[in-house]
Amino acid sequence: MHNNTVHKPVLFGEVIKYLDPQPGENFIDCTFGGGGHSKEILERIREQGKLLGIDANPEVEKIVCQINEQTNNDKRNKESGGELIFVNDNFRNIKKIYEQFFPYPVNGILCDLGLSSFELEKEDRGFSFLRDAPLDMRFDFKANELTAKEILNKFSIDKLISVFRNFGEIPYPLAAKVSERIVQQRKKKQFATTFDLVDVILNGCSIARSKGGRMRRIHPATLFFQALRIEVNRELDALIEFLPDAIEILKPKGRLAIISFHSLEDRIVKHYFREISKGDDATAKLLTKKPIMADVDEVRDNPRARSAKMRVIEKK
Ligand SMILES: C[S@@+](CC[C@H](N)C(=O)[O-])C[C@H]1O[C@@H](n2cnc3c(N)ncnc32)[C@H](O)[C@@H]1O
Repeated sequence: MHNNTVHKPVLFGEVIKYLDPQPGENFIDCTFGGGGHSKEILERIREQGKLLGIDANPEVEKIVCQINEQTNNDKRNKESGGELIFVNDNFRNIKKIYEQFFPYPVNGILCDLGLSSFELEKEDRGFSFLRDAPLDMRFDFKANELTAKEILNKFSIDKLISVFRNFGEIPYPLAAKVSERIVQQRKKKQFATTFDLVDVILNGCSIARSKGGRMRRIHPATLFFQALRIEVNRELDALIEFLPDAIEILKPKGRLAIISFHSLEDRIVKHYFREISKGDDATAKLLTKKPIMADVDEVRDNPRARSAKMRVIEKK
């Protein structure tokens, strides 16, 4: 799974600062990925602490095995970290997973949304428009049946337009133009790989995204790929279902940190956090009035961090 790819955890120092793991505490990492954040949490909670790692991607289990092996080696050297329990599932099921596998009070929960560099680079997943691969885009390729290929070959033109508008925030004229081309194209030849889609999109369109008041040019396929990925994995629904359950699971003073990578996710988190932290009956306290973002050094070192925004809340 790794190839030579390295996944650099984003906002690493800020995550550790806000979650502040202490010896004997228990945490849940809902998006385990390469375990970048988790490894540090495990070290800090020491032998008595427990960490529940969750990831929808079944291949993450291999990474967990490597980390566990390392921890066992450390144990022999009497320098053990906390115990790691891994569950391959969608974090939308956090309550069920918690009740079944983690009988401990929870001091902190982390959700680092989106996809890892391993997934982006993986030859057979089709997440990247820069390499030709089957149009799949599922995180959980064992349990989830809907693929990007099926959407492109089967969805009606209206459904395609609404996926691109709702999940890519693509202006109507462009969403409609590309959707029409998709429907024309699939009559001649069904969509099979990412480059089939890139060809259709590239036919003379360009998209700019507003960034701090200035428009930044992005690859035209970026937002179409984002939209398809969100639809395939029902990413926004998962986040909406997850939020109240995560708060419920936390012990008082427990913290929930969420890192998002686009405005659709960030908006959901921002509104929910605002809602539960306002008024006399607030159930939580907002720790980040403004989202935490990567500084220039981190962005230079890890371009993926450019659009990361972290918001943190503490249960009352
Ligand atoms: C950005 S990566 C996390 C990287 C990790 N924090 C690290 O530093 O190594 C996001 C991970 O979350 C997983 N993921 C995305 N949506 C998910 C969901 N709804 N439920 C569970 N896992 C999910 C992806 O498979 C991916 O491995």
